[in-house]
Amino acid sequence: MKQPFFPCENLTVRDGKLYFAGHDTTALALQYGTPLYLLDEARIRHNCRVYLDAFRSHFPAGSLPLYASKANSNKALYRLMTEEGMGIDVVSPGEIFTAKSAGFDLSRAFFHGNNKTDADIAFAMDCGVGCFVADNEEELCAIEREAAARGKTQNIILRLTPGIDTHTYAAVNTGKVDSKFGSAIETGQAEAITKSALQKPHVKLLGFHCHIGSQVFEEDVFERAAAIMIDFIALMKKTYGFDTTLLNLGGGYGVRYVESDGQIDIPKKIATLAGVINAACAKYAIPVPRICMEPGRSIIADAGLTLYTVGAVKRIPGYKAYVSIDGGMADNPRFALYRSSYTCHTANKMDEEPSLVASLVGRCCESGDIIQENVPFPASVGRGDIVAVCTTGAYNYAMASNYNRLGRPATVILREKDSYVAVRRETFEDLIALDE
Ligand code: LLP
Repeated sequence: MKQPFFPCENLTVRDGKLYFAGHDTTALALQYGTPLYLLDEARIRHNCRVYLDAFRSHFPAGSLPLYASKANSNKALYRLMTEEGMGIDVVSPGEIFTAKSAGFDLSRAFFHGNNKTDADIAFAMDCGVGCFVADNEEELCAIEREAAARGKTQNIILRLTPGIDTHTYAAVNTGKVDSKFGSAIETGQAEAITKSALQKPHVKLLGFHCHIGSQVFEEDVFERAAAIMIDFIALMKKTYGFDTTLLNLGGGYGVRYVESDGQIDIPKKIATLAGVINAACAKYAIPVPRICMEPGRSIIADAGLTLYTVGAVKRIPGYKAYVSIDGGMADNPRFALYRSSYTCHTANKMDEEPSLVASLVGRCCESGDIIQENVPFPASVGRGDIVAVCTTGAYNYAMASNYNRLGRPATVILREKDSYVAVRRETFEDLIALDE
């Protein structure tokens, strides 16, 4: 039998069963029920340390990787981020509130979003969010107003678009000139908003931000983006005498979901990036600013796995086969949205030849409720078997819904010797909690 493909080293097989982070997934399915999100604590810490170590080796003191909360947010994760010494990127008052509730030091938080309401801005300021990433002129004015009303000066950076087109899927491609995010360097709007920010008495401009996309594998796009940003930083020095002290290069390193995906060597990428930044700054004789990056997926994706129970197997002779599970697009909408690839295994039958190719589908009442096409299953697959979908730590729980009034699954965090519920399973009572 061909060795099964595992996208991450935290997956192994013992006695025909799939183990994740050293735990028997079939036992976890029994203990906690399905569908179930699992997170491997050691892997999260490892992924954070890869960034932290590379930052310490290659970037100036005060540089900081920020975990992009949007990938997956709960209180336990913010506690882990505190322990690891990470900063965070937040995009909503909900993420700010969650981080605050977990005791996260919000002076290490960067507040994103292309449309922060006045209420969002006020809330973030009152919570002590360290740095706002101002997206546009109207928002900049709103930040100035709220800061003035509080008699404080708010640290900000400006989100710019460097005009880079990454060849990832359209929904996550954000660095182009015509993006809804930020101000374009090419059109002169980046310079205009910089000038405006420098004139505002209650905002302190630290520098600039760009984010070119997500699940990006291309060779040199991050380096090209950094070089364009440094060109702009040098221009702002020359034109306005402005010293940039912080450059935030966003997130976006791709992760391996399936065998055909590449694998990014993050320490090597960061070393190369630092080389480009240092050379560009040397060329202009400007100091190298503190660097931030905002990894989400590359911190949490391969630390996640989802378990489901099979309910039915439908073989349509001459056509195709379906394996239906007790979750679906409500807990993982990524195939429905982006045709995303996943590696799937039948966790309790790892020693059986996977000879049946079927669509792995959810329980929602719509045909688009697909987790993955062309999944290999053992021919004996049937009701009660456990299916594991790998690499689901990022943008699964975070994008889950109550479609069909399905409760969201629990999130269980696995440690070396034990496991605990980080987010409990939604109950019927939760589902009607807001109904009057
Ligand atoms: N910083 C900014 C400003 C972002 O917009 C994002 C992701 C990140 C950082 C983190 O990027 P990462 O390292 O995770 O690639 N729902 C989509 C992904 C949307 C990404 C949005 N922004 C998906 O499921 O693939």
